[in-house]
Amino acid sequence: MKAERVYMDNSATTQLDEAVLHAMLPYFSQEFGNASSIHQFGQKARAAVEEARAKVAALIRAEASEVVFTSGGTESDNTALRGVAEFHRFRGNHIVTSKIEHHAVLNTCEALEKDGFSVTYLPVSEEGLVDPEAVREAVTEKTVFVSIMHANNEIGTLQPIRELARIAHARGALFHTDAVQSVGKIPMDVKEHEVDLLSLSAHKIHGPKGAGILYVRKGTKMRPLLYGGGHERNRRAGTENVPGIVGLGKACEIARERLPEFQRRVGALRDRLEQGILDRIKQVYVNGSRDHRLPHISNLSFEFAEGEGLLISLDLKGVAVSTGSACSSGSLEPSHVLTAIGRSAYGTLRFSLGWFNTDRDVDYLLEVLPPIVDRLRQMSPQFRKREAILSH
Ligand SMILES: Cc1ncc(COP(=O)(O)O)c(C=O)c1O
Repeated sequence: MKAERVYMDNSATTQLDEAVLHAMLPYFSQEFGNASSIHQFGQKARAAVEEARAKVAALIRAEASEVVFTSGGTESDNTALRGVAEFHRFRGNHIVTSKIEHHAVLNTCEALEKDGFSVTYLPVSEEGLVDPEAVREAVTEKTVFVSIMHANNEIGTLQPIRELARIAHARGALFHTDAVQSVGKIPMDVKEHEVDLLSLSAHKIHGPKGAGILYVRKGTKMRPLLYGGGHERNRRAGTENVPGIVGLGKACEIARERLPEFQRRVGALRDRLEQGILDRIKQVYVNGSRDHRLPHISNLSFEFAEGEGLLISLDLKGVAVSTGSACSSGSLEPSHVLTAIGRSAYGTLRFSLGWFNTDRDVDYLLEVLPPIVDRLRQMSPQFRKREAILSH
């Protein structure tokens, strides 16, 4: 089989959809108006921004007025956490989150600790699940918010966010969820899930980088992160990134149309990929829950084969995967998510599929991966020793 170019790192980012690109292009050139300007150039830009807002709202079943455009998931998480913490400081200084959150949440929490907040970082089970009882025990009348991600970016585990939101609300705390990995992959209804704040990012759903939203439930009181003009109903100052917003709107519209097909087709591809690896290569383990999981992520540990070696060898064959989250690749720290579920990060690969993956991609991976694992294992003294013992 000749070398292919196969992208299986869709949790890091996704390919821009052609239709999204086409929707954006006019707003880089002739439709260049500032959405706050009164003249016709401005009105065109404003109309495009509001059309996009309605499309985003439709995907998560929010009201358009509850959608605040940001520069992406990181800004949304920072705005949600800092905005709520600072506004509600008079009421309490306690925050509840989990150990497996994205660093956009964890590092914001750490910064808030330096500003006098106290943070409870909840452990998770071996499957990567937050225990609702642990949330109930952690939340006090001093808790200003609970932030638990909808789906984890490394292992794909889905949390019972409605149950967690109800626990937070029972004590008067707000509930934020980072849904950057889940929106567009599985259904999201902010009312049904009873969340107050939700983060979403365009580039994970075949939209452009540098665009996202924070959903802010009507009536939620918080401070903005950025001060300036009165943009986004005083929730986020700064001239709107009109092309990015238009691209995000289009990506949400497409994701909504494709959702059932995404779950079915991409889910089946992921299952075939995972089962194919488990059938062909011994001593491979699935990390995280297999029952409560996003349809497109598979996180696997290959015993006696080093992860970076696997990644580079696959890259040489044209297959792009990752050893963990894109943000922490290159760091020497082991994955905080795998550490939290009691697994070693050694020999771990994350396969994250997307709309553009095909059966052929999976076939190609299943062909090239077994000899790579075999070769790397042969270099491992522990593996050779173990094989020698087993063969006697
Ligand atoms: C769960 C999660 N939250 C937040 C982010 C950050 O989003 P962005 O890249 O749009 O800043 C990411 C991106 O990797 C993510 O996976």
